[in-house]
Amino acid sequence: MKVITVSNQVEGGSLAFSLLKEALDAGAKTLGLATGSSPLTFYKEIVESDLDLSNIISFNLDEYVGLPVEHEQSYHHFMQKHLFVAKPFKETFLPSGLAEDLTAEIKRYEEALAEHPIDFQILGIGRNGHIGFNEPGTAFDSRTHIVDLAENTIDANSRFFSSSQEVPRQALSMGIASIMASKQIVLMAYGFEKAQAVTQMVEGPITTAVPASILQKHSNVTIIADQAAASKLS
Ligand code: GLP
Repeated sequence: MKVITVSNQVEGGSLAFSLLKEALDAGAKTLGLATGSSPLTFYKEIVESDLDLSNIISFNLDEYVGLPVEHEQSYHHFMQKHLFVAKPFKETFLPSGLAEDLTAEIKRYEEALAEHPIDFQILGIGRNGHIGFNEPGTAFDSRTHIVDLAENTIDANSRFFSSSQEVPRQALSMGIASIMASKQIVLMAYGFEKAQAVTQMVEGPITTAVPASILQKHSNVTIIADQAAASKLS
């Protein structure tokens, strides 16, 4: 696991963008994408670049269950707004939290992932160490699944909704094994509120209590953190 400290999120986004370019030059065809505030500067770099992604396939990590795609806080909406409108991909996959049969939707997602293995996966990290929506306690061999969101995740994400009541209680998320199958992983973490999760991920025991700690076992992970998020590392 390589940890690179940057002075701010703009620098972190540029660094992630240069890692993406290297991966694309080396033949990467499938990108794994994340939502949240951490990847925003990375998406901005992509949008402002002349990168052509029309031959690239993308997968998103997760989506809330039950939010209409046009809802401001749906991850479909987020991806359209921050990336897909400006940079068309060959094909984009996002789990559908509106599918009538969520089990069939999960199967569809895993089949698509098996057909297009992810070359380059972007991740953020939750304050409790979650990746995607894999909350503490999620099995390391999990594949795409339905998740009951942890109370502190609902609290953390309620800043995007008018009240915490409005935050969906469930999500579909790629599992930890689905994420670990990616060839390369770049995780971005910014701010003091991530410092404890970053330290547990990098220096703590590998435990399902801190889902991101499994990344210690992956052979190609880069953590991009600002000084605040890296401040508790020894
Ligand atoms: C949500 C997403 C995660 C993301 C996390 C952190 O829970 N499902 O994929 O990593 O938030 O978000 P932020 O980058 O806004 O701190």
